[in-house]
Amino acid sequence: MAAVIYSLALVVLLAVHLSYFGKVACDDSALGGSFIFGDSLVDAGNNNYLPTLSKANIKPNGIDFKASGGNPTGRYTNGRTIGDIVGEELGQPNYAQPFLSPNTTGKALLYGVNYASGGGGVMNATGRIFVNRLGMDVQIDYFNITRKQIDKLLGASQARDYIMKKSIFSVTVGANDFLNNYLLPVLSIGARISETPDAFIDDMLGHFRDQLTRLYKLDARKFVIGNVGPIGCIPYQKTINQLNENECVELANKLAIQYNGRLKDLVAQLNENLPGATFVVANVYDMVLELITNYDKYGFTTATRACCGNGGQFAGIIPCGPTSSLCKDRSKHVFWDPYHPSEAANLILAKKLLDGDKKYISPMNLRQLRDL
Ligand SMILES: *[C@@H]1O[C@H](CO)[C@@H](O)[C@H](O)[C@H]1NC(C)=O
Ligand SMILES: *[C@@H]1O[C@H](CO)[C@@H](O)[C@H](O)[C@H]1NC(C)=O
Ligand SMILES: *[C@@H]1O[C@H](CO)[C@@H](O)[C@H](O)[C@H]1NC(C)=O
Repeated sequence: MAAVIYSLALVVLLAVHLSYFGKVACDDSALGGSFIFGDSLVDAGNNNYLPTLSKANIKPNGIDFKASGGNPTGRYTNGRTIGDIVGEELGQPNYAQPFLSPNTTGKALLYGVNYASGGGGVMNATGRIFVNRLGMDVQIDYFNITRKQIDKLLGASQARDYIMKKSIFSVTVGANDFLNNYLLPVLSIGARISETPDAFIDDMLGHFRDQLTRLYKLDARKFVIGNVGPIGCIPYQKTINQLNENECVELANKLAIQYNGRLKDLVAQLNENLPGATFVVANVYDMVLELITNYDKYGFTTATRACCGNGGQFAGIIPCGPTSSLCKDRSKHVFWDPYHPSEAANLILAKKLLDGDKKYISPMNLRQLRDL
């Protein structure tokens, strides 16, 4: 009798124990994989492995990134990207690793993989000035490789479930198609003469539709699509156009607004035409503009001056590197470098994506998307 009670107690204890650790290790409600596509806003180190002029694995990038002890990782910011923060908040124990890193193999794939690349865009020609970068076509070719590896890890049927139900696909792309393609004077003058903004945006969204449809064919179902931010308001654009603090470059912002309007229509069509898929639009444009306009309300002292950079009145010409001037208080700058938000700004933006209302993330926020 005593032995029976004893072993029962042991079973109960074991069960309590198992469920406790089960929660930590693989919480049922936690996000499975975070598959991240896009450009330097979310690149976590892919460009470290490319012969490219667009690199961020140089100091002082990463100075506030705890997981690397403040060493550069290839992220184009001082700390975490929005992709890192969102993954953490949705219950991931590890960051999605860069696809090109030799360590991104085996079970690590189940946390998701990061395919983003500084300089990359929707169009293949985007970012040519950097010599090398991964455009969206190539990023999806790479996911196709990961997809087969996950089949091997979990078996075909469980893999399909994991991708469809437990994983989120985020795509943050488009800014370079304007900044480092259509608007680039030297390289695109031909294209700009022969192609109206409308025609360029048409072409771009046609490619983007094909790319998102390819991801769907590979079983992606929960999508977050970032629209293009106010690219006329970044320190680089303000510096080279010699604007005042409170001005932005009109043509660049106008193109972004035009593209974003059409992107909304595309996403509505995809939601209707691809059964079982949920596409959410992150309104990066309005979120970042709000931060830039009301920077003091959010605790920043400037939304114009890059914290790390050189050149012109806003340190906005030369990218962040060892010889850059560095600001005193990194948490007080909206922009880390001439192009990219600081970790402090990323934290505020990520919070809006996770818990915000339809003004910034629509038709649902990321916590709701995870729980679908
Ligand atoms: C890969 O893993 C090894 C062994 O754990 C580690 O020493 C190395 O720093 C890792 N490399 C990257 C790029 O993460
Ligand atoms: C884009 O370039 C890659 C290789 O760099 C190629 O495989 C792909 O077919 C190209 N896509 C288009 C639409 O030209
Ligand atoms: C994935 O790769 C296979 C070849 O391994 C190819 O047949 C298939 O068309 C690819 N799928 C997509 C959506 O690119």
